[in-house]
Amino acid sequence: MAAAGQVENRIVSKKKAHLLGFIQHGVNSHATGMWRHPRDKVGWDFSRPAYWQHMARTMERGLFDAMFIADELAPYNTHGGTSDPIVKYAVQCPTHEPSTIVPIITTATKHLGVGVTLSTAFEHPYSMVRRLSSLDHLSDGRVAWNIVSSYSKSEWDAYGVEMTHRTRRYELLEEYMEVCYKLWNSWDADAIVADKASGIYADPAKVREINHVGEFFRCKARSFVAPSPQGQPVLWQAGSSDRGRDFAAKHAEAIFAVHPTVTRMRHYTDDLNNRLDKFERPPGSVKLIFGAQTVVADTRSEAQEKYERIKACIPAEGALAWMSGHFGLDFSTYDLDEYVQNIEVPGIQGLFESILYARDGAPVTIREAAMIYAQGMGMPVLVGTATDIADQMEVFLDEGGADGFMLAATYTPGCFEEFADMVVPELQRRQRFRTSYAGTTLRENLLQG
Ligand SMILES: Cc1cc2nc3c(=O)[nH]c(=O)nc-3n(C[C@H](O)[C@H](O)[C@H](O)COP(=O)(O)O)c2cc1C
Repeated sequence: MAAAGQVENRIVSKKKAHLLGFIQHGVNSHATGMWRHPRDKVGWDFSRPAYWQHMARTMERGLFDAMFIADELAPYNTHGGTSDPIVKYAVQCPTHEPSTIVPIITTATKHLGVGVTLSTAFEHPYSMVRRLSSLDHLSDGRVAWNIVSSYSKSEWDAYGVEMTHRTRRYELLEEYMEVCYKLWNSWDADAIVADKASGIYADPAKVREINHVGEFFRCKARSFVAPSPQGQPVLWQAGSSDRGRDFAAKHAEAIFAVHPTVTRMRHYTDDLNNRLDKFERPPGSVKLIFGAQTVVADTRSEAQEKYERIKACIPAEGALAWMSGHFGLDFSTYDLDEYVQNIEVPGIQGLFESILYARDGAPVTIREAAMIYAQGMGMPVLVGTATDIADQMEVFLDEGGADGFMLAATYTPGCFEEFADMVVPELQRRQRFRTSYAGTTLRENLLQG
Protein backbone atom coordinates (compact mmCIF):
# COMPACT_ATOMS: atom_id res chain seq x y z
CA MET A 1 0.00 0.00 0.00
CA ALA A 2 1.35 3.44 -0.87
CA ALA A 3 2.00 5.95 1.89
CA ALA A 4 -0.30 8.97 1.99
CA GLY A 5 2.39 11.32 0.64
CA GLN A 6 3.08 9.03 -2.28
CA VAL A 7 -0.59 8.93 -3.20
CA GLU A 8 -0.79 12.72 -3.15
CA ASN A 9 2.30 12.99 -5.34
CA ARG A 10 1.03 10.52 -7.89
CA ILE A 11 -0.13 12.94 -10.54
CA VAL A 12 -2.08 11.01 -13.09
CA SER A 13 -1.20 12.57 -16.39
CA LYS A 14 -4.09 12.47 -18.79
CA LYS A 15 -3.61 11.91 -22.47
CA LYS A 16 -4.39 15.09 -24.38
CA ALA A 17 -6.30 15.00 -27.65
CA HIS A 18 -5.03 16.18 -31.00
CA LEU A 19 -7.65 17.76 -33.21
CA LEU A 20 -7.93 18.11 -36.97
CA GLY A 21 -10.67 19.52 -39.14
CA PHE A 22 -11.63 17.18 -41.97
CA ILE A 23 -12.73 18.96 -45.10
CA GLN A 24 -12.56 18.99 -48.87
CA HIS A 25 -11.75 21.78 -51.29
CA GLY A 26 -15.26 21.62 -52.63
CA VAL A 27 -18.85 22.62 -52.15
CA ASN A 28 -19.57 19.62 -49.92
CA SER A 29 -17.29 17.52 -47.77
CA HIS A 30 -18.21 14.28 -46.02
CA ALA A 31 -21.77 14.86 -44.86
CA THR A 32 -23.82 14.43 -48.00
CA GLY A 33 -26.33 17.18 -48.82
CA MET A 34 -24.85 19.64 -46.35
CA TRP A 35 -24.49 22.34 -49.02
CA ARG A 36 -28.25 22.90 -48.72
CA HIS A 37 -28.32 23.23 -44.93
CA PRO A 38 -29.57 26.73 -44.01
CA ARG A 39 -26.39 27.37 -42.00
CA ASP A 40 -23.93 26.13 -44.59
CA LYS A 41 -21.48 28.71 -46.02
CA VAL A 42 -23.74 31.64 -45.31
CA GLY A 43 -21.92 34.54 -46.93
CA TRP A 44 -19.03 32.34 -48.02
CA ASP A 45 -17.96 30.90 -51.36
CA PHE A 46 -15.88 27.73 -51.10
CA SER A 47 -13.91 28.61 -54.23
CA ARG A 48 -12.63 31.91 -52.81
CA PRO A 49 -9.57 32.43 -50.58
CA ALA A 50 -11.54 34.33 -47.90
CA TYR A 51 -13.50 31.20 -46.97
CA TRP A 52 -10.32 29.18 -46.45
CA GLN A 53 -8.62 31.97 -44.54
CA HIS A 54 -11.59 32.19 -42.18
CA MET A 55 -11.76 28.42 -41.73
CA ALA A 56 -8.02 28.28 -41.03
CA ARG A 57 -8.17 31.09 -38.48
CA THR A 58 -11.11 29.40 -36.80
CA MET A 59 -9.21 26.11 -36.46
CA GLU A 60 -6.14 27.93 -35.21
CA ARG A 61 -8.26 29.81 -32.67
CA GLY A 62 -9.37 26.34 -31.51
CA LEU A 63 -5.67 25.26 -31.37
CA PHE A 64 -6.27 22.44 -33.87
CA ASP A 65 -3.17 20.64 -35.12
CA ALA A 66 -4.20 20.90 -38.72
CA MET A 67 -6.81 21.24 -41.36
CA PHE A 68 -6.95 17.95 -43.22
CA ILE A 69 -7.97 18.10 -46.87
CA ALA A 70 -9.35 14.89 -48.32
CA ASP A 71 -9.43 14.42 -52.06
CA GLU A 72 -10.25 12.19 -54.96
CA LEU A 73 -9.37 12.88 -58.56
CA ALA A 74 -12.70 12.53 -60.34
CA PRO A 75 -16.43 12.19 -59.68
CA TYR A 76 -17.37 8.59 -58.83
CA ASN A 77 -18.98 6.71 -61.71
CA THR A 78 -19.90 3.39 -60.12
CA HIS A 79 -23.56 3.94 -59.30
CA GLY A 80 -25.55 2.91 -62.38
CA GLY A 81 -22.30 3.19 -64.33
CA THR A 82 -22.53 6.99 -64.38
CA SER A 83 -21.52 10.03 -62.36
CA ASP A 84 -24.98 11.62 -62.82
CA PRO A 85 -26.13 11.23 -59.19
CA ILE A 86 -22.74 12.45 -57.95
CA VAL A 87 -23.02 15.64 -59.97
CA LYS A 88 -26.75 16.00 -59.28
CA TYR A 89 -26.50 15.83 -55.48
CA ALA A 90 -23.04 17.40 -55.02
CA VAL A 91 -21.58 14.17 -53.64
CA GLN A 92 -18.03 15.40 -53.06
CA CYS A 93 -18.50 17.22 -56.34
CA PRO A 94 -17.32 19.70 -57.47
CA THR A 95 -13.98 19.19 -55.72
CA HIS A 96 -11.07 21.47 -56.56
CA GLU A 97 -7.39 20.59 -56.41
CA PRO A 98 -6.29 20.39 -52.75
CA SER A 99 -2.68 21.61 -52.74
CA THR A 100 -3.69 24.97 -54.27
CA ILE A 101 -5.22 26.13 -50.98
CA VAL A 102 -2.31 25.12 -48.75
CA PRO A 103 -0.45 28.47 -48.99
CA ILE A 104 -3.73 30.34 -48.49
CA ILE A 105 -4.30 28.45 -45.25
CA THR A 106 -0.77 28.74 -43.97
CA THR A 107 -0.33 32.43 -44.73
CA ALA A 108 -3.54 33.14 -42.79
CA THR A 109 -2.14 31.32 -39.74
CA LYS A 110 1.08 30.85 -37.75
CA HIS A 111 0.71 27.39 -36.26
CA LEU A 112 -2.05 25.48 -38.01
CA GLY A 113 -0.80 22.59 -40.13
CA VAL A 114 -2.35 21.31 -43.34
CA GLY A 115 -2.75 17.67 -44.30
CA VAL A 116 -3.06 17.36 -48.04
CA THR A 117 -4.26 14.24 -49.83
CA LEU A 118 -2.26 13.53 -52.96
CA SER A 119 -2.44 10.36 -55.01
CA THR A 120 0.56 8.39 -56.16
CA ALA A 121 -1.33 6.81 -59.06
CA PHE A 122 -0.63 9.30 -61.82
CA GLU A 123 2.23 11.43 -60.59
CA HIS A 124 5.92 10.62 -60.59
CA PRO A 125 7.55 10.69 -57.13
CA TYR A 126 9.99 13.32 -58.36
CA SER A 127 7.30 15.94 -58.90
CA MET A 128 5.44 14.83 -55.76
CA VAL A 129 8.55 15.48 -53.66
CA ARG A 130 9.15 18.78 -55.40
CA ARG A 131 5.61 19.98 -54.74
CA LEU A 132 5.44 18.80 -51.13
CA SER A 133 8.86 20.17 -50.21
CA SER A 134 7.99 23.52 -51.77
CA LEU A 135 4.79 23.59 -49.70
CA ASP A 136 6.76 22.67 -46.61
CA HIS A 137 9.00 25.71 -47.22
CA LEU A 138 6.11 28.06 -47.89
CA SER A 139 4.32 26.94 -44.72
CA ASP A 140 7.41 27.06 -42.45
CA GLY A 141 7.14 23.30 -41.94
CA ARG A 142 3.44 22.75 -41.45
CA VAL A 143 2.58 20.23 -44.14
CA ALA A 144 1.47 16.61 -43.93
CA TRP A 145 0.94 14.31 -46.88
CA ASN A 146 -2.00 11.92 -46.80
CA ILE A 147 -0.63 9.17 -49.02
CA VAL A 148 -3.31 7.60 -51.21
CA SER A 149 -3.12 5.46 -54.31
CA SER A 150 -6.55 6.03 -55.96
CA TYR A 151 -9.10 3.41 -54.98
CA SER A 152 -11.85 4.59 -57.34
CA LYS A 153 -12.30 3.40 -60.92
CA SER A 154 -13.46 6.88 -61.92
CA GLU A 155 -10.00 8.25 -61.16
CA TRP A 156 -8.35 5.70 -63.46
CA ASP A 157 -10.95 6.36 -66.16
CA ALA A 158 -10.21 10.08 -65.91
CA TYR A 159 -6.51 9.47 -66.53
CA GLY A 160 -7.20 6.84 -69.19
CA VAL A 161 -5.30 4.13 -67.37
CA GLU A 162 -6.43 0.60 -66.57
CA MET A 163 -7.05 0.31 -62.83
CA THR A 164 -4.62 -1.93 -61.01
CA HIS A 165 -5.39 -4.28 -58.14
CA ARG A 166 -4.88 -3.15 -54.53
CA THR A 167 -1.89 -5.49 -54.09
CA ARG A 168 -0.19 -4.00 -57.13
CA ARG A 169 -0.95 -0.48 -55.93
CA TYR A 170 0.74 -1.21 -52.62
CA GLU A 171 3.78 -2.69 -54.42
CA LEU A 172 4.04 0.50 -56.40
CA LEU A 173 3.55 2.55 -53.25
CA GLU A 174 6.52 0.87 -51.57
CA GLU A 175 8.80 1.79 -54.43
CA TYR A 176 7.24 5.24 -54.62
CA MET A 177 8.21 5.89 -51.00
CA GLU A 178 11.71 4.57 -51.62
CA VAL A 179 12.23 7.19 -54.34
CA CYS A 180 10.72 9.93 -52.17
CA TYR A 181 13.01 9.10 -49.23
CA LYS A 182 16.06 9.06 -51.52
CA LEU A 183 15.16 12.51 -52.82
CA TRP A 184 14.34 13.94 -49.41
CA ASN A 185 17.67 12.67 -48.10
CA SER A 186 19.74 13.78 -51.04
CA TRP A 187 20.71 17.17 -49.59
CA ASP A 188 22.91 17.26 -46.51
CA ALA A 189 21.82 19.76 -43.90
CA ASP A 190 25.00 21.84 -44.42
CA ALA A 191 25.03 21.65 -48.23
CA ILE A 192 24.14 25.31 -48.67
CA VAL A 193 27.07 27.59 -47.88
CA ALA A 194 25.84 30.72 -49.68
CA ASP A 195 29.31 32.29 -49.67
CA LYS A 196 28.99 35.48 -51.69
CA ALA A 197 32.74 36.13 -51.67
CA SER A 198 33.64 32.86 -53.41
CA GLY A 199 30.38 32.70 -55.34
CA ILE A 200 29.69 29.21 -54.04
CA TYR A 201 26.07 28.68 -53.15
CA ALA A 202 26.00 24.94 -52.42
CA ASP A 203 28.57 22.17 -52.15
CA PRO A 204 27.78 19.64 -54.90
CA ALA A 205 29.45 16.89 -52.88
CA LYS A 206 26.66 17.30 -50.35
CA VAL A 207 23.81 17.20 -52.83
CA ARG A 208 23.73 13.66 -54.11
CA GLU A 209 22.23 12.66 -57.41
CA ILE A 210 19.98 9.68 -56.92
CA ASN A 211 19.93 6.99 -59.55
CA HIS A 212 16.88 4.89 -58.98
CA VAL A 213 16.06 2.10 -61.38
CA GLY A 214 13.16 0.05 -60.15
CA GLU A 215 10.19 -1.94 -61.36
CA PHE A 216 7.88 1.07 -61.56
CA PHE A 217 10.10 4.13 -61.61
CA ARG A 218 13.35 5.51 -62.86
CA CYS A 219 14.79 8.67 -61.45
CA LYS A 220 18.23 10.11 -62.06
CA ALA A 221 18.38 13.53 -60.48
CA ARG A 222 19.20 15.66 -57.53
CA SER A 223 16.20 16.92 -55.67
CA PHE A 224 15.48 20.38 -57.06
CA VAL A 225 14.29 21.75 -53.72
CA ALA A 226 16.54 22.76 -50.84
CA PRO A 227 15.89 20.88 -47.57
CA SER A 228 12.60 22.08 -46.15
CA PRO A 229 11.90 22.93 -42.49
CA GLN A 230 10.50 19.48 -41.68
CA GLY A 231 12.91 17.66 -44.00
CA GLN A 232 9.94 15.80 -45.35
CA PRO A 233 6.23 16.34 -44.79
CA VAL A 234 4.57 14.51 -41.91
CA LEU A 235 3.54 11.20 -43.48
CA TRP A 236 -0.10 10.39 -42.99
CA GLN A 237 -2.00 7.32 -44.04
CA ALA A 238 -5.48 5.83 -43.91
CA GLY A 239 -5.03 2.46 -45.60
CA SER A 240 -7.08 -0.08 -43.80
CA SER A 241 -6.81 -3.44 -45.58
CA ASP A 242 -4.28 -5.89 -44.18
CA ARG A 243 -1.68 -4.61 -46.63
CA GLY A 244 -2.72 -1.03 -45.98
CA ARG A 245 -2.23 -1.40 -42.24
CA ASP A 246 1.23 -2.82 -42.78
CA PHE A 247 2.09 0.07 -45.05
CA ALA A 248 0.86 2.52 -42.41
CA ALA A 249 2.76 0.72 -39.65
CA LYS A 250 5.95 0.95 -41.70
CA HIS A 251 5.75 4.50 -43.03
CA ALA A 252 3.14 6.63 -41.29
CA GLU A 253 3.70 9.13 -38.51
CA ALA A 254 -0.04 9.48 -38.07
CA ILE A 255 -3.00 7.41 -39.14
CA PHE A 256 -6.55 8.37 -39.81
CA ALA A 257 -9.06 5.60 -39.12
CA VAL A 258 -12.81 5.44 -38.83
CA HIS A 259 -14.40 3.15 -36.27
CA PRO A 260 -17.95 3.56 -35.05
CA THR A 261 -17.52 2.20 -31.53
CA VAL A 262 -14.91 2.27 -28.81
CA THR A 263 -14.57 -1.53 -29.03
CA ARG A 264 -13.64 -1.31 -32.71
CA MET A 265 -11.20 1.52 -31.97
CA ARG A 266 -9.49 -0.61 -29.33
CA HIS A 267 -9.33 -3.50 -31.75
CA TYR A 268 -7.68 -1.29 -34.35
CA THR A 269 -5.26 0.26 -31.86
CA ASP A 270 -4.08 -3.15 -30.65
CA ASP A 271 -3.74 -4.46 -34.18
CA LEU A 272 -1.73 -1.44 -35.29
CA ASN A 273 0.57 -1.56 -32.28
CA ASN A 274 1.29 -5.24 -32.99
CA ARG A 275 2.16 -4.39 -36.56
CA LEU A 276 4.55 -1.61 -35.44
CA ASP A 277 6.59 -4.28 -33.74
CA LYS A 278 7.14 -5.97 -37.11
CA PHE A 279 8.84 -2.79 -38.35
CA GLU A 280 10.80 -2.29 -35.15
CA ARG A 281 8.84 0.75 -34.14
CA PRO A 282 7.73 1.06 -30.51
CA PRO A 283 4.02 0.82 -29.70
CA GLY A 284 2.42 4.26 -29.68
CA SER A 285 5.00 5.69 -32.08
CA VAL A 286 2.29 6.49 -34.61
CA LYS A 287 -0.50 8.90 -33.72
CA LEU A 288 -3.89 7.27 -34.08
CA ILE A 289 -6.43 9.84 -35.08
CA PHE A 290 -10.00 8.57 -35.20
CA GLY A 291 -12.81 10.20 -37.13
CA ALA A 292 -15.67 11.79 -35.20
CA GLN A 293 -18.48 14.12 -36.06
CA THR A 294 -19.94 16.44 -33.47
CA VAL A 295 -23.24 18.26 -33.12
CA VAL A 296 -23.03 20.53 -30.10
CA ALA A 297 -25.59 22.82 -28.47
CA ASP A 298 -26.36 24.32 -25.07
CA THR A 299 -28.91 21.61 -24.29
CA ARG A 300 -29.31 18.00 -25.35
CA SER A 301 -32.70 18.59 -26.92
CA GLU A 302 -31.36 21.49 -28.95
CA ALA A 303 -28.45 19.32 -30.12
CA GLN A 304 -30.83 16.54 -31.09
CA GLU A 305 -32.93 18.99 -33.11
CA LYS A 306 -29.82 20.21 -34.86
CA TYR A 307 -28.86 16.64 -35.67
CA GLU A 308 -32.29 15.88 -37.14
CA ARG A 309 -32.00 19.00 -39.31
CA ILE A 310 -28.61 17.84 -40.57
CA LYS A 311 -29.88 14.34 -41.37
CA ALA A 312 -32.86 15.78 -43.25
CA CYS A 313 -30.43 17.20 -45.83
CA ILE A 314 -29.19 13.79 -46.99
CA PRO A 315 -30.59 12.73 -50.39
CA ALA A 316 -31.21 8.96 -50.44
CA GLU A 317 -29.97 8.43 -54.01
CA GLY A 318 -26.92 10.59 -53.43
CA ALA A 319 -26.15 8.55 -50.31
CA LEU A 320 -26.28 5.29 -52.24
CA ALA A 321 -24.19 6.73 -55.05
CA TRP A 322 -21.53 7.78 -52.56
CA MET A 323 -21.41 4.28 -51.07
CA SER A 324 -21.15 2.83 -54.58
CA GLY A 325 -18.21 5.16 -55.23
CA HIS A 326 -16.31 4.41 -52.04
CA PHE A 327 -16.89 0.68 -52.03
CA GLY A 328 -16.57 0.01 -55.76
CA LEU A 329 -19.96 -1.73 -56.11
CA ASP A 330 -23.01 -0.59 -58.01
CA PHE A 331 -25.63 -0.50 -55.26
CA SER A 332 -28.30 0.53 -57.80
CA THR A 333 -28.44 -3.15 -58.78
CA TYR A 334 -28.92 -4.43 -55.21
CA ASP A 335 -32.00 -5.16 -53.13
CA LEU A 336 -31.78 -2.32 -50.61
CA ASP A 337 -33.09 -4.56 -47.84
CA GLU A 338 -30.12 -6.89 -48.20
CA TYR A 339 -27.74 -6.86 -45.25
CA VAL A 340 -24.33 -5.31 -45.79
CA GLN A 341 -22.89 -8.12 -43.69
CA ASN A 342 -23.51 -10.46 -46.68
CA ILE A 343 -21.51 -8.34 -49.11
CA GLU A 344 -17.81 -8.12 -49.96
CA VAL A 345 -16.50 -4.90 -51.41
CA PRO A 346 -13.45 -4.20 -53.59
CA GLY A 347 -13.26 -0.53 -52.47
CA ILE A 348 -12.25 1.04 -49.15
CA GLN A 349 -12.40 -1.92 -46.81
CA GLY A 350 -11.76 0.07 -43.65
CA LEU A 351 -14.64 2.41 -44.26
CA PHE A 352 -16.93 -0.48 -45.12
CA GLU A 353 -16.18 -1.87 -41.68
CA SER A 354 -17.56 1.32 -40.19
CA ILE A 355 -21.00 0.34 -41.43
CA LEU A 356 -20.56 -3.40 -40.79
CA TYR A 357 -20.10 -2.52 -37.13
CA ALA A 358 -22.37 0.53 -37.04
CA ARG A 359 -24.68 -1.35 -34.69
CA ASP A 360 -22.05 -3.36 -32.90
CA GLY A 361 -22.18 -6.07 -35.56
CA ALA A 362 -26.00 -6.39 -35.66
CA PRO A 363 -27.33 -6.62 -39.26
CA VAL A 364 -27.63 -3.35 -41.19
CA THR A 365 -29.48 -3.13 -44.52
CA ILE A 366 -28.00 -1.36 -47.53
CA ARG A 367 -30.75 1.27 -47.24
CA GLU A 368 -29.83 1.98 -43.60
CA ALA A 369 -26.11 1.81 -44.27
CA ALA A 370 -26.37 4.46 -46.99
CA MET A 371 -27.94 6.95 -44.59
CA ILE A 372 -25.40 6.19 -41.85
CA TYR A 373 -22.53 6.42 -44.28
CA ALA A 374 -23.71 9.60 -45.98
CA GLN A 375 -23.77 11.37 -42.62
CA GLY A 376 -20.00 11.12 -42.20
CA MET A 377 -18.53 7.85 -43.45
CA GLY A 378 -19.73 5.87 -40.44
CA MET A 379 -17.85 7.93 -37.85
CA PRO A 380 -19.35 8.11 -34.40
CA VAL A 381 -21.63 11.14 -34.30
CA LEU A 382 -21.40 12.81 -30.90
CA VAL A 383 -24.60 14.75 -30.28
CA GLY A 384 -25.11 16.75 -27.09
CA THR A 385 -23.72 19.46 -24.89
CA ALA A 386 -20.01 20.25 -24.71
CA THR A 387 -19.91 18.14 -21.54
CA ASP A 388 -21.48 15.14 -23.29
CA ILE A 389 -19.06 15.40 -26.19
CA ALA A 390 -16.00 15.78 -23.98
CA ASP A 391 -17.18 12.78 -21.89
CA GLN A 392 -17.36 10.65 -25.01
CA MET A 393 -14.01 11.83 -26.30
CA GLU A 394 -12.37 10.94 -23.00
CA VAL A 395 -13.65 7.38 -23.37
CA PHE A 396 -12.22 7.19 -26.90
CA LEU A 397 -8.86 8.47 -25.63
CA ASP A 398 -8.63 6.20 -22.62
CA GLU A 399 -10.35 3.04 -23.75
CA GLY A 400 -10.16 3.25 -27.53
CA GLY A 401 -6.50 4.22 -27.69
CA ALA A 402 -7.21 7.39 -29.68
CA ASP A 403 -4.53 10.07 -29.76
CA GLY A 404 -6.96 12.53 -31.21
CA PHE A 405 -9.85 13.18 -33.52
CA MET A 406 -10.44 14.07 -37.13
CA LEU A 407 -13.58 16.18 -36.92
CA ALA A 408 -15.71 15.72 -40.01
CA ALA A 409 -17.50 18.83 -41.18
CA THR A 410 -21.25 19.21 -41.14
CA TYR A 411 -22.21 22.78 -42.12
CA THR A 412 -19.20 25.02 -42.58
CA PRO A 413 -17.59 27.06 -41.22
CA GLY A 414 -20.19 26.97 -38.40
CA CYS A 415 -19.45 23.46 -37.13
CA PHE A 416 -15.79 24.35 -36.51
CA GLU A 417 -16.67 27.71 -34.93
CA GLU A 418 -19.03 25.91 -32.54
CA PHE A 419 -16.46 23.27 -31.70
CA ALA A 420 -13.75 25.88 -31.04
CA ASP A 421 -16.04 28.01 -28.90
CA MET A 422 -17.89 25.31 -26.96
CA VAL A 423 -16.06 21.99 -26.86
CA VAL A 424 -12.42 23.13 -26.83
CA PRO A 425 -12.80 25.07 -23.52
CA GLU A 426 -14.44 22.03 -21.94
CA LEU A 427 -11.61 19.73 -23.07
CA GLN A 428 -9.06 22.26 -21.78
CA ARG A 429 -10.86 22.51 -18.43
CA ARG A 430 -10.39 18.73 -18.12
CA GLN A 431 -6.72 19.03 -19.18
CA ARG A 432 -7.52 16.99 -22.25
CA PHE A 433 -6.40 19.55 -24.78
CA ARG A 434 -3.53 21.99 -25.21
CA THR A 435 -3.79 25.62 -24.15
CA SER A 436 -1.04 26.71 -26.54
CA TYR A 437 0.96 25.25 -29.40
CA ALA A 438 4.20 23.56 -28.35
CA GLY A 439 6.22 24.18 -31.49
CA THR A 440 6.29 25.84 -34.84
CA THR A 441 6.18 22.83 -37.16
CA LEU A 442 3.28 20.44 -37.56
CA ARG A 443 5.46 17.51 -36.50
CA GLU A 444 6.40 19.26 -33.25
CA ASN A 445 2.76 19.98 -32.48
CA LEU A 446 1.67 16.44 -33.29
CA LEU A 447 4.28 15.09 -30.91
CA GLN A 448 3.08 17.39 -28.13
CA GLY A 449 1.79 15.24 -25.25
C1 LIG B 1 -10.75 7.48 -43.00
C2 LIG B 1 -10.29 7.32 -44.39
C3 LIG B 1 -10.16 8.44 -45.20
C4 LIG B 1 -9.71 8.30 -46.50
N1 LIG B 1 -9.62 9.41 -47.30
C5 LIG B 1 -9.20 9.27 -48.58
C6 LIG B 1 -9.12 10.38 -49.46
O1 LIG B 1 -9.39 11.51 -49.09
N2 LIG B 1 -8.73 10.16 -50.73
C7 LIG B 1 -8.41 8.92 -51.21
O2 LIG B 1 -8.07 8.80 -52.38
N3 LIG B 1 -8.46 7.86 -50.39
C8 LIG B 1 -8.87 8.00 -49.11
N4 LIG B 1 -8.95 6.91 -48.32
C9 LIG B 1 -8.55 5.64 -48.90
C10 LIG B 1 -7.26 5.08 -48.33
O3 LIG B 1 -6.30 5.95 -47.94
C11 LIG B 1 -6.70 3.94 -49.15
O4 LIG B 1 -6.07 4.39 -50.30
C12 LIG B 1 -7.79 3.03 -49.55
O5 LIG B 1 -8.53 2.71 -48.41
C13 LIG B 1 -7.22 1.76 -50.19
O6 LIG B 1 -6.39 1.14 -49.29
P1 LIG B 1 -6.91 -0.03 -48.38
O7 LIG B 1 -7.51 -1.02 -49.29
O8 LIG B 1 -5.69 -0.51 -47.67
O9 LIG B 1 -7.93 0.54 -47.43
C14 LIG B 1 -9.40 7.02 -47.00
C15 LIG B 1 -9.53 5.91 -46.18
C16 LIG B 1 -9.97 6.03 -44.89
C17 LIG B 1 -10.08 4.82 -44.04
